[in-house]
Amino acid sequence: MAKQLNVKTPEGQYPIVIETGALAHIERHVTDFGLDGHVVIATDDTVQSLYADALRTKLPNAQVVSMPSGEQHKHLETVRHFYDELIRLKADRHTTLVALGGGVVGDTVGFVAASYMRGIRFVQMPTTLLAMVDSSVGGKVGVDLPQGKNLVGAFKQPALVLIDTDVLQTLPPSQWRAGMAEVIKHGFIADSSLLNPTQYSPDNTPDMVARAVQVKIDIVEQDPYEENIRAFLNLGHTFAHAIEQVTHYAWLHGDAVGVGLLLAGKLSVQLGITNNTDLVPMIDNLLQKIGLPRSIGNLDPETLYSAMATDKKWKGGKSRFVLLEDVGKPVIVTDAPKELVLAALTETS
Ligand SMILES: NC(=O)c1ccc[n+]([C@@H]2O[C@H](COP(=O)([O-])OP(=O)(O)OC[C@H]3O[C@@H](n4cnc5c(N)ncnc54)[C@H](O)[C@@H]3O)[C@@H](O)[C@H]2O)c1
Ligand SMILES: [Zn+2]
Repeated sequence: MAKQLNVKTPEGQYPIVIETGALAHIERHVTDFGLDGHVVIATDDTVQSLYADALRTKLPNAQVVSMPSGEQHKHLETVRHFYDELIRLKADRHTTLVALGGGVVGDTVGFVAASYMRGIRFVQMPTTLLAMVDSSVGGKVGVDLPQGKNLVGAFKQPALVLIDTDVLQTLPPSQWRAGMAEVIKHGFIADSSLLNPTQYSPDNTPDMVARAVQVKIDIVEQDPYEENIRAFLNLGHTFAHAIEQVTHYAWLHGDAVGVGLLLAGKLSVQLGITNNTDLVPMIDNLLQKIGLPRSIGNLDPETLYSAMATDKKWKGGKSRFVLLEDVGKPVIVTDAPKELVLAALTETS
């Protein structure tokens, strides 16, 4: 069963097609998806053997290029490696570059597609839950520098996002959980149906993904260049980035986002922004059901606070958090007192 969602962008619009089995039966769609010309499938080493080599044989004129798996390879050397590969394969302005993989592949390959020959046609085929519901939509692409994450990038809208949830069957459980943190984040921002655990059964995955993506679509359509409400997508992320930084990325991003949601809920209560007394228990309960961490363990609240204070978005030392007035009502709060932030962290140790 296929479902199509459309995303309006400043330059036009693109479809997101959600279809189970679409990759295994891509031959049905070669022309509609514009994959009948020269295609380069860019992937990582894990996804190459699982899906990319098979996909290549089903397209009339496709080749595969690959990067090593993992965030530590989302950097400019990999971009350079892909430029070399594209030249070697005689890719030109008529070539379609397909990013087949998780968010690391999508972000890196998207940046290549934005810059190679001043931009070539780009298709996203996300293979992790996180990439399906978050990173493949919205046009932000880029890589990390040694000085920090995502410091080099561009806006590059894909021509198509093709989501085949069948590929999630090979995803490690830890990566599934990490993606679920972003699904419930979207639930708290704008769609309470995503907070109902009956949504999380394997049969329902295509529908759950469609709902979670729709939350992102609605936001990026209104604020494509992150000038205002796109910041809502950072719910839980100020805390999460601090945890990732302090642990030198030993925590999976989604695990950190899970606890970050709980901390955002607690801070919303401490500041009197919400009077929904069910909010924190509800977040805690969902994290438990999904198997996400619900505590910062032995991480030091002061150290985490100092890490947050280096956030680019904390202008003039003023804190900045996305918090919740209620389910479906995110707000940006810029002057949370340090003592209350520390209190939320201490309470979550
Ligand atoms: N551009 C955006 O708007 C945006 C938004 C959120 C996150 N991101 C970025 O996304 C990245 C994280 O993405 P991610 O969580 O997908 O990580 P990832 O791309 O590293 O994938 C996680 C692991 O799963 C493996 N994998 C992928 N698909 C698989 C499958 N179907 N079966 C088995 N294994 C599979 C990968 O090889 C990798 O080892 C970060 O770099 C983050 O900055 C970008
Ligand atoms: Zn995230």
